[in-house]
Amino acid sequence: MENPFKFGTIVEEEYFTDRVEEVAYICQFVRSANHLVLISPRRFGKSSVVAKAVKQTGRKHITVNLQQVTSVADLSAKILKEFFKVHPLERVRHLITHFRIIPMVSTNPVTGAMDVSFQPGVDDAVLLEDVLTLIERAHTEKNRIIVVLDEFQDILEIAPKLDRQLRSIMQEQKHINYILLGSQESMMTDIFENKKSPFYHFGELMRLSKLPREDFHRYLSERLAGCFKGREEALADKILDYTGCHPYYSQQLAANVWQVGVLQPETEDPIAAAIDHIVKAHGLDYERLWMNFNRTNKWIMQHLASDRPIQSRQYPTSTIYSALKRLQKEGYVIYSDRYELEDPFFKQWIVEAMQ
Ligand SMILES: Nc1ncnc2c1ncn2[C@@H]1O[C@H](COP(=O)(O)OP(=O)(O)O)[C@@H](O)[C@H]1O
Ligand SMILES: [Mg+2]
Repeated sequence: MENPFKFGTIVEEEYFTDRVEEVAYICQFVRSANHLVLISPRRFGKSSVVAKAVKQTGRKHITVNLQQVTSVADLSAKILKEFFKVHPLERVRHLITHFRIIPMVSTNPVTGAMDVSFQPGVDDAVLLEDVLTLIERAHTEKNRIIVVLDEFQDILEIAPKLDRQLRSIMQEQKHINYILLGSQESMMTDIFENKKSPFYHFGELMRLSKLPREDFHRYLSERLAGCFKGREEALADKILDYTGCHPYYSQQLAANVWQVGVLQPETEDPIAAAIDHIVKAHGLDYERLWMNFNRTNKWIMQHLASDRPIQSRQYPTSTIYSALKRLQKEGYVIYSDRYELEDPFFKQWIVEAMQ
């Protein structure tokens, strides 16, 4: 039996649940001439919800993940490559005549896919401008294209002043709706809410929360029923209690519970067995992460893991607060209505190590 749960990559079709309002909102939003900025902690479902919405618009769209980008030339090449997927080269050849540096386009002999690159060492400021101008020229105000830039906070790390450069190009454009997604809370807010940032008030800010419990419960129990007839509702409840409805970790736990159900159907507590399996499988990673935390961070992580208050005479409040902010920026801690550890399995590992 195929595992009905999926985690780690963008989810679509039968693996995607709820987010009805968000999808409708995004579809409606890109009918205006405005840009959208979507923020949430990692693995909440940003990439998935945007992929679904842009597909639903039926409009031309391209997506580039900045996490995979190594330089401005690379960014320009990646955007151009995606552009050629929606506008075949033969049909837009006449629009490329304005390019100050001619891109090299070839077919990868291994994958058969198209490769786009620029000669190394060329002035990359003009590359990006030429590529984005091409996209603008291939569209009109009535027929805008949607350009999705995922993990947008990485813009600050690709090259100095790239944010400024990008913003000044975008400023002139009228035929593109940009959707910018980002996962490092504080850095994304800095980019869009700080008056000194070139992207200050660039677009509408939208935040994504965890999945609503009722929908997620239905999604999990319908699928668990295939393996745990009669126990599916209780198991779904336990999974969501453990993960706090986190989209990724709930799917991960459900997938492992399913696995236990298939391989060891006699197991009395499949949830405990699945958790144990996941924590053990990641034990080495957790240990490595733990060794690199300083003492304040260890103290905070232990207190959050055991749900103890993070106040103490040992550390001044300001020290705790700035350490929390840093941990949040690095993705170990998230804040929804309170501070909590991002990964429930890392949390479990910490609790077990304390005993
Ligand atoms: N709407 C959804 N329905 C079911 N699972 C989801 C949904 N959105 C996200 N997930 C789960 O979370 C994981 C991460 O989703 P992703 O879109 O990559 O998040 P992000 O881009 O915020 O990091 C997915 O692989 C899936 O397991
Ligand atoms: Mg993503």
